[in-house]
Amino acid sequence: MIIPGSASQTLAAALADHTGIPLATVASDRFPDGELLVELPDAIDDRAIIVASTVSSEAHLEVLLLQDAAREAGVNQLTTVIPYLGYARQDAAFEPGQPVSARAVARAISTGTDRVLAVNPHEPAVMDFFTVPARATSAATQLAGPLPTDLTNPLFLAPDSGARDLVTEVRDAYGRGEVDHFEKTRRSGRAVEIAPSDARVADRDVVVADDIIATGGTMSEAIGVLREGGADRVYAACVHPLLTDAARTRLAQAGVAAIVATDTVERPASTVSAAPIVADAVRAFEDS
Ligand code: R5P
Repeated sequence: MIIPGSASQTLAAALADHTGIPLATVASDRFPDGELLVELPDAIDDRAIIVASTVSSEAHLEVLLLQDAAREAGVNQLTTVIPYLGYARQDAAFEPGQPVSARAVARAISTGTDRVLAVNPHEPAVMDFFTVPARATSAATQLAGPLPTDLTNPLFLAPDSGARDLVTEVRDAYGRGEVDHFEKTRRSGRAVEIAPSDARVADRDVVVADDIIATGGTMSEAIGVLREGGADRVYAACVHPLLTDAARTRLAQAGVAAIVATDTVERPASTVSAAPIVADAVRAFEDS
């Protein structure tokens, strides 16, 4: 049985469609003081897969409640799929007195499950924070699907060297095109500076791909540099379209041709599903 978190209902349904595993209806309520309550249906299988992106602090808590409810209902084999793993960018104590937040949430999630699968965690090393078997998979290949088939002399660009492997996956899935990366310097949580790559961009279609678009600062800066360089259509592709603040506006003002993203975070830009990737990864993990 697939148990959806409230922020991952589309992906959970797509996974159910893809695998033929039944989808549970989760009832959700609140106590008068605002505390969350979840309730699973009476009949739950012995094996279950929770699918729940931890896009907010509330969603983190919901995962813990769903895990506990599944155990209470008698689930013996529980896989927790975190399509978007929140707090993964806080993978170190950056200042004295700060927590390693990714480790704190990973430990909590580990207590209620047999294994954890995450999709494109910001740093793959955060998977080591889980205390049960944990794997990461990549849904980047899915981003090639919605791109137009007629891209002109396409250039696939990473905003920084860290995203180059992801961009290469997108290019390989698309089937043709050059890969390059910018040099990015982050000035604050919302401001970045992007140094142009050496690649010639004039009259070319460009796909900038990254794991996350959050405030849109990175992407809008990259798109601006490319448009100044004479690029034709510029697509912004990401696995996790958090699209916080005025990200959509920033990208539109920068001149993006379209945003392409998966449903690990459910937004209007989530035009392609990570479900086939998750299905394969869960099967391989459970069989190992
Ligand atoms: C950073 O290393 C990530 O790969 C993304 O580039 C970043 O999280 C995007 O954030 P924003 O949209 O706020 O620039």
